[in-house]
Amino acid sequence: METYLNSAAPAEERARDLLARMGLDEKIGQMVQADGRTDADSWILDRHVGSFLHVTGDEAIRLQRVAERTRLRVPLLFGIDAIHGHGFGRDTVVYPTQLALASSFDPGLARRVARRTAREVAAAGLHMTFSPVLCLGRDPRWGRVDETFGEDPFLAGELGAAMVEGYQGDSLAEPGSILACAKHFAAYGETIGGRDSTEAEVSRRKLESVFLPPFDRAVKAGCASFMAGYNAIDGTPCSANAWLLRERLKGRAGFEGFVVTDWNNVGALVALQKVAEDLRAASVLAAVAGNDLIMNTPGFYAAALEAARSGDIPPEVVDEACLRILRKKFELGLFDAKRYPAIEISAADRAEDRILAKEAALASMVLLENPGEVLPFGRSVRKLAVVGPNADVVFNLLGDWSFGPRDPGVVAWNGNHADAVTPLRGLHAFLEARGGEVVHERGCGIMDGEDGIARAVSAAAGADAVVCVLGDDFNQNGEGRDRADLDLTGRQRELAEALAAVGKPLAVVLVNGKPLTVPWLKGLPCAVVEAWNAGAEAGSALAELLFGEADFTGRLAISWPRTTGQIPAHYMELPGWHAASYHDVEPGPLYPFGYGLSYAEFAYGEPRTDRAVYPAAGAAEIEVRVEAANVGARAGVANVQVYVRDLVSSVTTPDKRLVGWARVRLEAGERKDAVVRVPVDRLALVDADCRRVVEPGAFDILAGPSSADLKAARIRAE
Ligand code: BGC
Repeated sequence: METYLNSAAPAEERARDLLARMGLDEKIGQMVQADGRTDADSWILDRHVGSFLHVTGDEAIRLQRVAERTRLRVPLLFGIDAIHGHGFGRDTVVYPTQLALASSFDPGLARRVARRTAREVAAAGLHMTFSPVLCLGRDPRWGRVDETFGEDPFLAGELGAAMVEGYQGDSLAEPGSILACAKHFAAYGETIGGRDSTEAEVSRRKLESVFLPPFDRAVKAGCASFMAGYNAIDGTPCSANAWLLRERLKGRAGFEGFVVTDWNNVGALVALQKVAEDLRAASVLAAVAGNDLIMNTPGFYAAALEAARSGDIPPEVVDEACLRILRKKFELGLFDAKRYPAIEISAADRAEDRILAKEAALASMVLLENPGEVLPFGRSVRKLAVVGPNADVVFNLLGDWSFGPRDPGVVAWNGNHADAVTPLRGLHAFLEARGGEVVHERGCGIMDGEDGIARAVSAAAGADAVVCVLGDDFNQNGEGRDRADLDLTGRQRELAEALAAVGKPLAVVLVNGKPLTVPWLKGLPCAVVEAWNAGAEAGSALAELLFGEADFTGRLAISWPRTTGQIPAHYMELPGWHAASYHDVEPGPLYPFGYGLSYAEFAYGEPRTDRAVYPAAGAAEIEVRVEAANVGARAGVANVQVYVRDLVSSVTTPDKRLVGWARVRLEAGERKDAVVRVPVDRLALVDADCRRVVEPGAFDILAGPSSADLKAARIRAE
């Protein structure tokens, strides 16, 4: 038997054996990831394609059968955007978006969500998700902020690594394991003005300090693939950047998986970025720079084959790309038991997934305001008015990547996931179970001037309490949907103000994909809850939170600016004479990174460290202890965040940087030490020569409930 068909042989040997049998046309075909919605059979039979994306339903199985008819019977690799659940599938469970889930500060939860997502993807005959997104959400005008874990590199790295572990399991060969893909490499979220996929103006030092660390963390977690960004960095498109892909990622970081381009990145080198005069030149550039799998550049196959035949793409470049892809196909078991789906999802699985979706939704929501303890609503609330344009819209609730690929123009709901629990449904079920009642009015629209405010006000006047669900529309987020204005649109402000004037207990709930500039809302006499796009069980989680059956544990993973002119408003500010302030805006963000209220009330002590001096080099850890006390009347979860400040350094460093956190459950009246272990190398900066180094000297270890409320302890590294 040929070695590559022998399931007992090691993956590496099998991949090399297969490679040796392949012709150049078959090798170039392995480097192609085609759009499975057009011409799929011909891609397989005529152009030896090795991979597809955007294939759903039973089509993956059918195409795999077509591939069995080819000379070497190489199985296909199917990629899909299962970003927060396998949303493109029918009857699957959608989880909170990454930005929502980031509020949980809970890698274990992220790992479980990813694991369950992987099972759904694997059961559909697909093998790879284009997730996690490790771009940083530092400019909320950017349309894709909802896809990020927020602004902080350390938090993004920890949550991203957990998702990689969840998708890939203990072994890729497990029936429910799929390949993770860390994207978009790199600095894609930092494009100028928050305008999608243009140019990121970042230096090497800034890349090393801020944007690459989450990706390095993903490599350490064993992430099987990386996606190159659409953007250019300082003039070099990521897909043409040999330093980034070959030297930094595959070389220095030791990445062993494969690099996939983003959608038509190779075509864009010609048409948009204009660094290559034709597709042949672009194909050479991309292959030599270190892209292994080329996503949807239909002309790549012919252009690259010609370039490879002439030697312009050297044979070792083609072989390396193929080997990197084939290795993963073997490790996944695609030549063996996993060529066709090796698991099924039962009704019981789906029920378990819904329970997890609810747990994730509970952990995602953040209580921003609670003046006069409007919340939790008490037992006396029997008739509830649920108003607002986002009270009952599945499309807006679940958010981007829940329904299918983005197509140009305004996108309409395709009817998938109709059973998601909207706020209205969740509150209705909750109150009905208590013998209460819900009345509903939309009040206004989001993208238009619809005015039903008078009806909403009269519904509110006749109720014991009011929940007003505002936010954004699906079409205000996503690729090509950057926003210059982050206030609530339509007549939403008018609606909220009119409801506040009614005088009933009022909670404004925001269902949206990004921070909003709403200082006016902060000024109203109402509770404010950020519910994000919290997935299929958002409404049931919301009902429990509003009525106090569960407490808010979510903390913001992204700062909220007061006005768009204040962007960037992230907390990793560099020092300056006038840092953080404009003469016409109150200084500081509207809500800082790490912020969130609970029904429990916490008090934090000073941070204490186990020593005063640590060795700057080596593997020492700083043990930080902070006494957390629950001084409120009910149990809750404190989130003790630990930051570091480098007091004197050879280059400017941020005023503070998150280096760890601990979530501690405390009964009413209980006190406990939160313990956070910080390896000394987390104090490292990137110096002017781009070296990561802990510079000897004094540091402040800062701890507290948010980036804006911290106490300090001084240590030294020597
Ligand atoms: C996005 C990627 C996505 C890909 C495939 C691109 O437009 O930038 O994040 O994975 O499409 O759908």
